Amino acid sequence: MVKVVVCGAAGGIGQPLSLLLKQSDLITDLALYDVVNAPGVAADLSHINTKSRVTGHGKDDMDAALKDAHTVVIPAGVPRKPGMTRDDLFKINAGIIAGLAEGVAKNCPGAFVLVISNPVNSTVPIVAEVLKKHGVFNPKKVFGISTLDVVRSSRFVSEVNPSVDPKSTRVTVIGGHSGVTIVPILSKIPGFVEGLTKEQLDALTYRIQYGGDEVVKAKDGAGSATLSMAYAGARFALTLLEATVTGKTGLVESSYVNLDADKESTATFKAKHGLDYFALDVEFGKEGVKNILPLPQVSAYEQTLLDAAYPELKTNITKGASFVTGA
Ligand code: 2OP
Repeated sequence: MVKVVVCGAAGGIGQPLSLLLKQSDLITDLALYDVVNAPGVAADLSHINTKSRVTGHGKDDMDAALKDAHTVVIPAGVPRKPGMTRDDLFKINAGIIAGLAEGVAKNCPGAFVLVISNPVNSTVPIVAEVLKKHGVFNPKKVFGISTLDVVRSSRFVSEVNPSVDPKSTRVTVIGGHSGVTIVPILSKIPGFVEGLTKEQLDALTYRIQYGGDEVVKAKDGAGSATLSMAYAGARFALTLLEATVTGKTGLVESSYVNLDADKESTATFKAKHGLDYFALDVEFGKEGVKNILPLPQVSAYEQTLLDAAYPELKTNITKGASFVTGA
């Protein structure tokens, strides 16, 4: 059985994400959990002619939804309104995420947990601390989804230079998933940065860091990115499933992870910056994180971006962890 659970499945991200997951033949059971409407969304998706069995679980049915899950994807919570940062969501989403992590610890302690709910820089430490409290935290299995930053980067780069194919050009994005903590390493794209003026590079970097705000503004109070986020979340989840279910090797995605997932590769970086979490390229294996790829070579411009990201990330991480530990 390969059971995938979507927590927050009836929401703006949850519905299209569940639809994309329903298309995978690697999933045998797709459990949709939400406080409202999950049975309806499940009934609808269950008519699609792929092999997974779809079940819907309402507010009081979280345990059954999570029971024996292989992978739990969490887009639950409230989205941003214009003028809000991701951090402004902390008050509401922190409690929701902690409650779901409790459910994971109780019902599927060995599951892969993919956190989409914002602020990701803080919600991932929340999940980790709850799992630690129950003695079931495995850093190789908890992932913050920063894939949308990578997806946006590929697309935005191709808009600046139309000869770049957005599908096959993978941009390395490291750091975290909000504002200045999003650090695109555009210098890794052969010949690309050299063709840009300083103004173009500034504008593109800003657009990648604050791409989410474009959507929040355009939706004008109706929320933040849902469809592109669902696409990014599904891409990540399905790639991880390929590695963990079929054993396919060499699969890499960027993810915001606890650096203890690969102590050997991250020890020096961790000691230097005092950070427990950071988004880096991760190679997947059967057990989740196989390797965390080392911090790439960065340009002087990117080093300045990194220097701005570190203190912000530290604050975000401490805020998430303290929510659980009280320290
Ligand atoms: C974004 O980047 C919703 O955090 C998401 O737009």
